[in-house]
Amino acid sequence: MANKTILITGVAGFIGSNLADRLVRDGYKVVGIDDLSAGILEQVPKEVEFHKLDIRSKDIFPVVKEADVVFHLAALNSVVMCQSDPYGTADVNVMGTLNVFEAARAAGIKRVIYAESSAIYEGTKTLPTPETDFMPQTFYAISKATDHLFGMAYGREFGMEMVGLRYLNVYGPRQDYRRAIPPVMTRFIVRILLGGRPPVFGDGSLRRDYIHVDDVNDFHLLCIESGKVANRVFNLGCGKNYSVLEVLAEIQKILGTNAEPEFVPEPSGIAEANLADITAAKSVGWEPKIGLGEGLRGLVDYVKAEMAKGNIARAQ
Ligand SMILES: NC(=O)c1ccc[n+]([C@@H]2O[C@H](COP(=O)([O-])OP(=O)(O)OC[C@H]3O[C@@H](n4cnc5c(N)ncnc54)[C@H](O)[C@@H]3O)[C@@H](O)[C@H]2O)c1
Repeated sequence: MANKTILITGVAGFIGSNLADRLVRDGYKVVGIDDLSAGILEQVPKEVEFHKLDIRSKDIFPVVKEADVVFHLAALNSVVMCQSDPYGTADVNVMGTLNVFEAARAAGIKRVIYAESSAIYEGTKTLPTPETDFMPQTFYAISKATDHLFGMAYGREFGMEMVGLRYLNVYGPRQDYRRAIPPVMTRFIVRILLGGRPPVFGDGSLRRDYIHVDDVNDFHLLCIESGKVANRVFNLGCGKNYSVLEVLAEIQKILGTNAEPEFVPEPSGIAEANLADITAAKSVGWEPKIGLGEGLRGLVDYVKAEMAKGNIARAQ
């Protein structure tokens, strides 16, 4: 039923722009909001009705009103940066989220799908981690845990259909190589392609559950139409994890290189391992399809294409 209008906050970001592409391709009308504080306007498909707005502003209300379904993805999204700014983190990630929820409520929109994070599990030792383990430690995770509590309360109090998504480590094209601490995969690929040594935090034994953005989008599509997701929260991971050194080895295999890693001190607030229990997401008919090797080959192609455009030399 593609005759719906879908609103995406954070549409110029990594996950938001990939979702916009997929929805446009599937025939949905897409309206997007982003303040471009971290997002890239060129990533927003031209078919999207784009509004440069801050999610904390009341100006989002008339824009949200156009939608049948809301995806709320905009957030401050760096654990390390949020750790030095608890007030700013709460302002955007909690008050901004509440403003989006209120705009949806005022417009009578029932279904709001919003980004939580697997960072909510950073204090747990239970692996794989089910959705019931709720142990946020950092300010970023606390902001996402607060969104969860508000989200579920909007479902209970106002009859809305709230869906919380706990992404594990999402990767794929447009994963941002420009930020101060780029995600591990793009950090490695860029550094090796530029002839340098890939920087490994700690001893490289940190294990992460990586999920490809196309698999995440399969779940997003399901969230628009499914009767089984309302007022629930879902882990979106692969249910497998890999150490940083295993990811590096896979990347070197694809690139045909043997670059010596540079071991650097680990930033604080980083969990040792994550691994999702994905029973809940599977129970509504979803399954991840893209293996690490296939996903990394696509990411390498993306980084090479950015480099050919001259974007990466500029960003370094
Ligand atoms: N990428 C991951 O692996 C991952 C993992 C767990 C959770 N998440 C969550 O998923 C969501 C999307 O993540 P992403 O990787 O695409 O992040 P991203 O940083 O690429 O995108 C976030 C977007 O939000 C926008 N934004 C930030 N503050 C805003 C504001 N005040 N008003 C309007 N727009 C604003 C930014 O400009 C950016 O385009 C976020 O909520 C993030 O916390 C992502």
